[in-house]
Amino acid sequence: MNIHQTPFTPVGAPIHRRVMSRMETALAARRNVLEIIPALAYRQPIVSGEMLMRWHMLADPAGYRRVMGDNLANYPKSEIMRRMLRPAIGDSLFNADGAEWKWQRQAVAPVFTHRNVVALAPAMTATANRAAARLAARGGQAELVSEMLGATFDVICDVALSGREHFDGKTFSAAITRYFQTAGRASLLDFLGFPDWFPRPGELLAGRSVKTMHDMVAAAIEARRKQGGGAAGDLLDHMLAAQDPETGQRMGVESLIHNMQFFIVAGHETTALAIAWALYLLANSPAEQDRAHDQARAQLGMRPATADDLAAMPLIENILEESMRLYPPVGLLARTVLAEDELCGRAMKPGDIVFLPIWALHRHEMWWERPDAFDPTRFDGPRRDKYQYLPFGAGPRVCVGANFAMMQAQIILATLLARFRFHPAGPGPRPVMTMTVRPDPGVLLAVEEL
Ligand code: HEM
Repeated sequence: MNIHQTPFTPVGAPIHRRVMSRMETALAARRNVLEIIPALAYRQPIVSGEMLMRWHMLADPAGYRRVMGDNLANYPKSEIMRRMLRPAIGDSLFNADGAEWKWQRQAVAPVFTHRNVVALAPAMTATANRAAARLAARGGQAELVSEMLGATFDVICDVALSGREHFDGKTFSAAITRYFQTAGRASLLDFLGFPDWFPRPGELLAGRSVKTMHDMVAAAIEARRKQGGGAAGDLLDHMLAAQDPETGQRMGVESLIHNMQFFIVAGHETTALAIAWALYLLANSPAEQDRAHDQARAQLGMRPATADDLAAMPLIENILEESMRLYPPVGLLARTVLAEDELCGRAMKPGDIVFLPIWALHRHEMWWERPDAFDPTRFDGPRRDKYQYLPFGAGPRVCVGANFAMMQAQIILATLLARFRFHPAGPGPRPVMTMTVRPDPGVLLAVEEL
């Protein structure tokens, strides 16, 4: 099977079957990180090797439990992953470890409590309605990744900054895309331990896109400071008020910019990808789409979904979960080993790198029947080992925005499925992983209003 195979056996199984040379691996990584996941990683619990440094690729639920839960302190985020993200997000929440991580996590957690997320649902409903109106007005074909990026961007701007008056959505989105396609791609060389002198052509472009994004975020923060802050109760207010309980330290301007930058990017890009991949899979699976449409239409008629509707539409949640199994928006993470340990019976030595290929875990022959088939019924009934399915990670560092993302994705997907039928239009996209797993060149579908 190869990565170009579409549309209907969703791709992803072993991509290269022979051992690549170091140069070949570097070139493959620059194209698409999915290509560096070895075929064995889909068949056995752990694959190890050495290329400038000792590395392990873990695809075993018990191993994930140890790395992300029981022995978390022994597996901090890998320096190479940090280095890759640092120009854009510094040492903000996602990139921090230890005490520095803990107080930032405590500062933002209140924004994402269940009650607060439910309070944000009306903004999600309004966005879903606007997205549906745009699709209806356009008619014919639509590229669903950009449609969904527009929709989710609106909502994250509400949560983070109570609006987007400082944001030109198009400029910001274009900068994000450029960033993912340049820094993300080129720096995969870092993953592989390539030395600093190895040419990374994306860096210059990436620098420019980061500056565009940072300037926009800085303007929004400055405007809030002038207003005094505190009244909006949004993420920015929480961060302005946050204080480290041990040191009394507050977030400096740079830290605020980096955190806001991460929230705005992570808060909408991943969710948009989840919805777009779900629509792609449904367009190619008419029977599943019909079932989902019937359920959504029966509950909603032609109105947009609200938080209260979701319990009556379990298929929508199942579809999103199965879509994120096949196309996890975050497909690979990396950790460093601090002290000696054992994973799947294999010795971990200080300094080793442990890759967490969520993509391979989700398509693993040992944990899933027909791993490449789209089958939302897998998510009916009792849950499996929770470390077998990790679109949002797990343990103390689990995605802080998971509830928010799921609610938003369900509201938008249900609203669209109630009103439209989606059909494939052209060849299926190819999954390309830079930092997230994006469909290349996009998800082009014919949209029929019902
Ligand atoms: C479908 C959508 C999303 C997916 C698939 C996703 C995935 C992930 C994953 C896998 C992690 C764990 C990373 C690790 O262990 O190294 C993570 C962490 C994180 N996510 Fe998400 N995410 C999504 C949406 C969001 C949203 C909407 C927000 C905020 C608005 C968000 C904010 C964060 C933050 C702040 C962290 C770092 C948490 C920490 O280290 O304590 N994510 N996400």
